[in-house]
Amino acid sequence: MYAAFRSIGAYVPEKVLTNDDLAKMVDTTDEWITKRTGIKERRIAAADETTSDMAVKAAEKAIERSGLKKSEIDMIVVATISPDYFNMPSTATVVAHKMGLDKVSAFDISAACTGFIYVLSIAKAFIESGMKKNVLIIGAEKMSAITDYSDRGTCILFGDGAGAAVISATEEKENAIIDLHTASDGSLGDFLMTPDGGTGNPHQAELKAEASFIQMKGNETFKIAVRTLTNDVVDILQNNDVAAGEITHFIPHQANYRIIKAVGDALKLADEQVVLTVHKYGNTSGASIPMAINDLYEEGNLKAGDLMLLDAFGGGLTWGSALLPFAGK
Ligand code: ACO
Repeated sequence: MYAAFRSIGAYVPEKVLTNDDLAKMVDTTDEWITKRTGIKERRIAAADETTSDMAVKAAEKAIERSGLKKSEIDMIVVATISPDYFNMPSTATVVAHKMGLDKVSAFDISAACTGFIYVLSIAKAFIESGMKKNVLIIGAEKMSAITDYSDRGTCILFGDGAGAAVISATEEKENAIIDLHTASDGSLGDFLMTPDGGTGNPHQAELKAEASFIQMKGNETFKIAVRTLTNDVVDILQNNDVAAGEITHFIPHQANYRIIKAVGDALKLADEQVVLTVHKYGNTSGASIPMAINDLYEEGNLKAGDLMLLDAFGGGLTWGSALLPFAGK
């Protein structure tokens, strides 16, 4: 049995936060943000809109496009670092409940911006082992809830949104996920952190909200991301005897245009092979790859059999890549 990427869906909140809006909040400019990151605007969820609310909207689209009945979903895995509740219940169980799927296996994973590749690897493993048939994977983030809007080094980067995919069992090898790689290096965990609130830095009576916000060593992260991602995508292509020119769509995590460009150039990819959404959504962490796949799909540019190369790098540190055909309609 193989695992096939069967369908995609996404949700973006209505509210747009532009670079000019941010320039009124912190000492920055549209020009600086555009030049250093490629980001022009990002979406921000409503105050009462939760990560699970966005996840459900993305998931419903993905299930509808899969042609499956909701009841055929036998597992839900959510990648998020901005869950509805920090300890429990998991966002996946909240999503399952909101979708009327209370008996289904459901859990979250934490791999920051690499989250979608991690949940894809989990779906593949469960399906290939015969334990599950139709796994709903979701990357959903309300990054605005863990972003410090007085820190110009981070608040310009992040946005909110959700993406979901249905991964199904198939006997057709040509539809199978070809290869996946995930990795981590905890020794560099302090490059990207929300330092407070956990047992590593337990709650104090006077806990300040900003201690739970993202702190990032941006420049150090940038350099290691370019190097690590380039090696990772070169390896996955070589290991599978696939030439860069055979990739229909390179769909990287959308953190920074300069990181995407550097990796794309290292592979000598043509512009039309590289999928970009960073200018309009910013960095939506675990949601960015499925949101980008969904954009491609809704624009009519994702066809059955198209070969996708995914890559991501984020907090942990974590990184990974995946090589797979689109097996939807
Ligand atoms: N506006 C104006 N100036 C700024 C801003 C801003 N928004 N932010 C920083 N600066 C200043 C700095 O203070 C610094 O000034 P100085 O030279 O006087 O000290 C200068 O700009 C350069 O700062 P750097 O941090 O070196 O800028 P850099 O070119 O590295 O760009 C950025 C910063 C955009 C954050 C970049 O480092 C980056 O994209 N890093 C990678 C982020 C990433 O990929 N994260 C992983 C995924 S996220 C996750 O997993 C949740």
